Amino acid sequence: MDVTTRANRSAWETAAHKYVDEYDELLAQAATGSELVAIERDLLREVLSRSPAVVHPQSGHGLDDIALVQAGARSVVGVDYSSVTVRAAQRRADELGAPCRYVVAAVPGMPLAGASADLVYTGKGALIWMRDLAAWARDIARVLRPSGHLFVYEAHPAVPLWTWDEDEPRIRPDRGYFARSHVNDTFPGNGAVEWQWNLGQIVTTLVAAGLEILHLSEYPEPFWRAGGVSAAAWSGRLPNSFALLARRRP
Ligand SMILES: C[S@@+](CC[C@H](N)C(=O)[O-])C[C@H]1O[C@@H](n2cnc3c(N)ncnc32)[C@H](O)[C@@H]1O
Repeated sequence: MDVTTRANRSAWETAAHKYVDEYDELLAQAATGSELVAIERDLLREVLSRSPAVVHPQSGHGLDDIALVQAGARSVVGVDYSSVTVRAAQRRADELGAPCRYVVAAVPGMPLAGASADLVYTGKGALIWMRDLAAWARDIARVLRPSGHLFVYEAHPAVPLWTWDEDEPRIRPDRGYFARSHVNDTFPGNGAVEWQWNLGQIVTTLVAAGLEILHLSEYPEPFWRAGGVSAAAWSGRLPNSFALLARRRP
């Protein structure tokens, strides 16, 4: 593991104690299955109707997984390099009787059999932690069975540029759309380094790894809002998230 990824992992291990401290609230939230938003439900409807075996790289608190099961997934294997996160997610899933299994491991490099997933589901703050996007895409293509689907619902690559000013949207003077990385100053903080991948790089990298793009949309709504913040950049004029559905070529 390279130095930056090791430092980011340590930042996540520290930040993940939030998921333990808020265990009961997150358990109640998980039980509602509300973590999948309408954008995700619409695009995943057909895939979920076939009871897919799901792999979720960077599964985090696992609330997405409970919602995926409630929406039709047969099982979910979550992979995350934070052992604190994985323990809390496994405990929650077990308590709710959900068929989810969690593995502590780095992505890319998931210790899972090839062609074992009908659906790879990821996003909501995942891609920014990938230093090597080509290796990420190859790992996903490897675990997907031929014609299996990849779904990504993620922060738009322009999001690091927006200020959280409430009067009007502004561009941060210290950020650039084509920059390689920046230091995270919100969550998990602690000096974590986020990698920047623009939409062109994401699409081209997935195609090179053997996937075909079925759908790509950009949205004004952010997938995450910091509590108490109501930024003008989120009011509808700017892109804040995107969703992508792809399929491994047969
Ligand atoms: C913002 S969360 C997104 C996941 C989930 N949707 C959620 O909301 O909890 C990012 C997760 O990625 C994990 N992560 C970051 N880099 C990783 C890597 N290289 N390998 C495995 N997990 C990683 C972190 O531990 C964290 O749990």
